Amino acid sequence: PVPVITIDGPSGSGKGTVTQMLARRLGWHLLDSGALYRLTALAAVRQGVSFDDHAGLVQVAASLDVRFEPTPAGEPVRVVLSGEDVTREIRTEAAGDNASKVAVVPAVREALLQRQRDFRQAPGLVADGRDMGTVIFPDAPTKIFLTASAEERAERRYRQLKEAGHDVKIDALLDEIRARDDRDMNRSAAPLKPADDAQVIDSTGLSIEEVLEKVMAASGQ
Ligand code: CDP
Repeated sequence: PVPVITIDGPSGSGKGTVTQMLARRLGWHLLDSGALYRLTALAAVRQGVSFDDHAGLVQVAASLDVRFEPTPAGEPVRVVLSGEDVTREIRTEAAGDNASKVAVVPAVREALLQRQRDFRQAPGLVADGRDMGTVIFPDAPTKIFLTASAEERAERRYRQLKEAGHDVKIDALLDEIRARDDRDMNRSAAPLKPADDAQVIDSTGLSIEEVLEKVMAASGQ
């Protein structure tokens, strides 16, 4: 089978950045599963489908017309929804919060399952999310669970959003991170937790390069 490295963890743990660097270094494909939940929420808002309308959300998730286009090193992957570049739009805090609301619906998760497994193509895949090691790729040979303190995650998110030109407040971000952790860990469908065979890496106080080195070592690469 095609090898997979799963990188799961809470919001702001650095998994997105580490996943991109690792995929580039190995020359493997990348799955940003969170983007699929962000896109489902965005498409629902645009189509006027309420988050309470579960059948409507499933319809939206199943019919997502999305392309992930490669970009030069260091730039985020370009995300195109129904022909429109939504790369920036899906990265806002509101988009992440909406994503976590549609992600609690089991049938939405079900509707996105095969689409995620289809990313597993030679020579390999690095998959980033909440349930990559527990639900989507339970047979992955390498599973990483990346954590960091809520304070550090809020600070990282603050710097990231500032750099991207968004106007944000650190206290509000910390509250949001805690609320999102709570929703992700306490939902019944695929709650956020390390797979039994995952290696847990705490990135508090580590640079992104140090985290990457630890992940590479853990994956035997
Ligand atoms: O960067 P951050 O972790 O905040 O966002 P993300 O990975 O894009 O995920 C956004 C939200 O989507 C999370 O809070 C989860 O509720 C949901 N999600 C999920 O349920 N399962 C996944 N595999 C990935 C994301």
